[in-house]
Amino acid sequence: MDERDVVAGGDTDDSHGSRVPPPQGFLEQATVTEDPRPSFENNWPACWSAAGDLLEWDDPYDAVLEDGEPPFYDWFPGGTLNAAYNCLDRHLHAGRKNRAAIHWEGKDGERRTYTYRDLYVEVNEFAAGLRSLGVEEDDVVTIYLPMVPELPIAMLACARIGAPHSVVFAGLSASALATRIEAAGSAYLVTCDGYYRRGDAFNQQRKAENAVLSVDHDVETVVVDRLGEALPHVLGRDQHDYDTLVEAHAGETITPVPRESNDMLFVMYTSGTTGEPKGVVHGTGGYLAYVAWTARTVLDVTPEDTYWCAADIGWITGHSYIVYGPLALGTTTVLYEGTPDYPDRDRLWELIERLAVDIFYTAPTAVRAFMKWGTEYPSRHDLSSLRLLGTVGEPINPRAWQWYYDHIGGGECPIVDTWWQTETGGMAISTIPGVDDMHPGAAGKPLPGIGVDVVGPDGTAVEAGQTGYLTLTRPWPGMAKTLYSGDDRFLQEYWLAHSVPEAGDWRYGSGDAARVDEDGYITILGRADDVLTLAGQRFSTMEIESAIVGVEGVAEAAVVVGPEGDDVHAYVSLEGGTEPSAALEQSVLDRVELSIGRFARPRRVVFTPELPKTRSGKIMRRLLEDVTNGKPLGDTSALRNPEIVGEIRSTIDQE
Ligand code: PRX
Repeated sequence: MDERDVVAGGDTDDSHGSRVPPPQGFLEQATVTEDPRPSFENNWPACWSAAGDLLEWDDPYDAVLEDGEPPFYDWFPGGTLNAAYNCLDRHLHAGRKNRAAIHWEGKDGERRTYTYRDLYVEVNEFAAGLRSLGVEEDDVVTIYLPMVPELPIAMLACARIGAPHSVVFAGLSASALATRIEAAGSAYLVTCDGYYRRGDAFNQQRKAENAVLSVDHDVETVVVDRLGEALPHVLGRDQHDYDTLVEAHAGETITPVPRESNDMLFVMYTSGTTGEPKGVVHGTGGYLAYVAWTARTVLDVTPEDTYWCAADIGWITGHSYIVYGPLALGTTTVLYEGTPDYPDRDRLWELIERLAVDIFYTAPTAVRAFMKWGTEYPSRHDLSSLRLLGTVGEPINPRAWQWYYDHIGGGECPIVDTWWQTETGGMAISTIPGVDDMHPGAAGKPLPGIGVDVVGPDGTAVEAGQTGYLTLTRPWPGMAKTLYSGDDRFLQEYWLAHSVPEAGDWRYGSGDAARVDEDGYITILGRADDVLTLAGQRFSTMEIESAIVGVEGVAEAAVVVGPEGDDVHAYVSLEGGTEPSAALEQSVLDRVELSIGRFARPRRVVFTPELPKTRSGKIMRRLLEDVTNGKPLGDTSALRNPEIVGEIRSTIDQE
């Protein structure tokens, strides 16, 4: 595979920086200073009791791993536990009830702090409320909320009563929500009246209502009052007010429902290479143990810390490293509703200073934006409380890495570049900050107990320094259990042995392209399939393109990411007899917003007579990406219509 076949998630044009050892100040207090990898290797899979032992079990597990038919494995079989108990009750028993669990910062400067005791009380009351609506163990509850405290509260309330949650990112459209409600057969929805983004108030309830209308079954809806007077909400049929429900159950406690370790904790819909989202199912014991263990080992989270993962809970990063990992460890987690540039571009740094944040975890696209805004913003604030920085979601190029290290970390905080996916549940490749040197641009080595092979199309490992497909060679506790739509698709999507028998018995195909260097460090090169990363989250090109093709008069469409890293550029060819027009462009934009969400609206729509295609008819998106990003064109010899690329380039240049 040629590196250029990859849909790049970051810069590949600057070479790797030199190795950077862990800063001395960090080493003096790091939680993990000895490499656990050798002992994990010698003692696999029993080594994973190190993760299992971070939890409190109702019934102890019989074994760490039960061999099943690959890829279906049971972690900590026989063990029973409750995730909400592990994130709340046990911290109260440990005398930590007055410790802050969540610091919430609203978009307009509103603040709320929940101690572990406060969170315990509200989770119990809402759990009782959900039960009163008829929610039973194993019923899927859909949660469609922005970054408000009621979001983690609802998740934990579900976990407490053994009802799996399906959190849908609040920015997704009504139609995307309806697809997910339908796919999960979910009869309960928790949403809100609306929310703020930058200066605007968005009506969320209307989107939720439109989704519910288009679903075949009845859906009971709970509505959180986020906007108060700004948007008085009226409740319709099958709708319940969150505050009234919680008040009706004031002071009630619910005994946590013991779940078998492999019972479902949640389903999270994510994009595949086709338009249809995949419901990735995570279990309870293995998942919770893994996110707690990785938060401790890689992010160095301790119960004394104030920790901030600036992601959205609507995606896996927020599930694992805003909610479950940090709360299982009893730390203080920051929940931030706003954006980094409102009211000013120093908003994050002001928050870090005021809350004395110890650990900060974000996406490289955010770091690149901070870099563009300049050092004046972080330099207004005292960031010396920071001890560790992290990134996730896409490769971080060495220049952005260095800027983050110097200007946010003050040269004293290690950076962990953590590679993982919705399906892995938690981090799988990263440096361990008190152990490994950092290598800007390369994520790091496989974490303890994780096996990685970079393989060619025939499934055999490629040599060091060569590009191939990133595969995982062993199960790990955080791995997805299956897809909600069934085991068959799970097997076909991920288990390489299924499609490439030479790959051996057990091989998870990540869909990413990567390279292993001589020293065992892994550089992630981006997706090897038609998936693009928007603000650190995964979307299939096909999802966006099929929305565009739904517009009357459009024949074909191809989308790529532009220089900002999260700006979608759409190339559209029209049916004979249809002429490009401003109205058509508007229809394209509206259609993407309607079927996916506002954040996926193309920044630019370019009408072109044809799209560049290979002789076999495959759209060559990488050439469109080169054109979009003003890069020299790659090899066009495989094209059936090479002249079109030049035409597209001159169209863009004229605009
Ligand atoms: O392409 C990889 C990229 O994000 C994909 C996973 O997307 P998602 O399931 O939405 O989860 C995002 C947050 C975990 C991967 O297949 N990715 C994730 N982390 C990195 C990365 N690419 C490069 N470096 C990373 N550290």
